[in-house]
Amino acid sequence: MKDEFSRRDFLLTLTKLLGLAGAGTSLVPMVGALMPAHNIILEGIMEVDIRDLKEGELKRVLWRRQPVFILKRTKEMIKHTASIKPEELKDPAHPEDRTLREDLFVGTGICTHLGCIPRLVKDGLKGLPAGGFYCPCHGGKYDSLGRRLEGPPPENLHLLPYRIEGKRLVIGSQFFAGYTENVRKIGDLPEDG
Ligand code: FES
Repeated sequence: MKDEFSRRDFLLTLTKLLGLAGAGTSLVPMVGALMPAHNIILEGIMEVDIRDLKEGELKRVLWRRQPVFILKRTKEMIKHTASIKPEELKDPAHPEDRTLREDLFVGTGICTHLGCIPRLVKDGLKGLPAGGFYCPCHGGKYDSLGRRLEGPPPENLHLLPYRIEGKRLVIGSQFFAGYTENVRKIGDLPEDG
């Protein structure tokens, strides 16, 4: 009787072990499918030649299907943004929180109100004496660092990870899953390497 029980227990244990081994084998391709493919990771990184970018010029590129603004800021723009008190902004941010290099602004070209694409105005628009971004949809205004100054936009233009390598701008990071409300400064963004 005792032997019979032992044999049944042994067979049950063996069945369970074989079942677990089978499940493990079938999980391997499933886990593999959940990992991002190597080419998708690479697609998240983009290089832009900024050698010929002139003062006051805006370059627009498409990165991860989003418009990205690359603005070479003028001295007047830099002076104007330095004169703005961050604490008086709806979405407070210091100039150094918005750029890696003061003469270059890199950010997402999508208005934070309802998603229109703002345009660069160089000067002459009320509230933007040295130029900045104007969203014609509902009159949103941003300074040349993409900080919201006026109108319905609730926050600044979003930042994205980038680095400057000589005359090349490298946009993206394989660790960047998307902008979140925790990203308030350029230093909050992930870097590669
Ligand atoms: S979408 Fe830009 S102000 Fe409304």
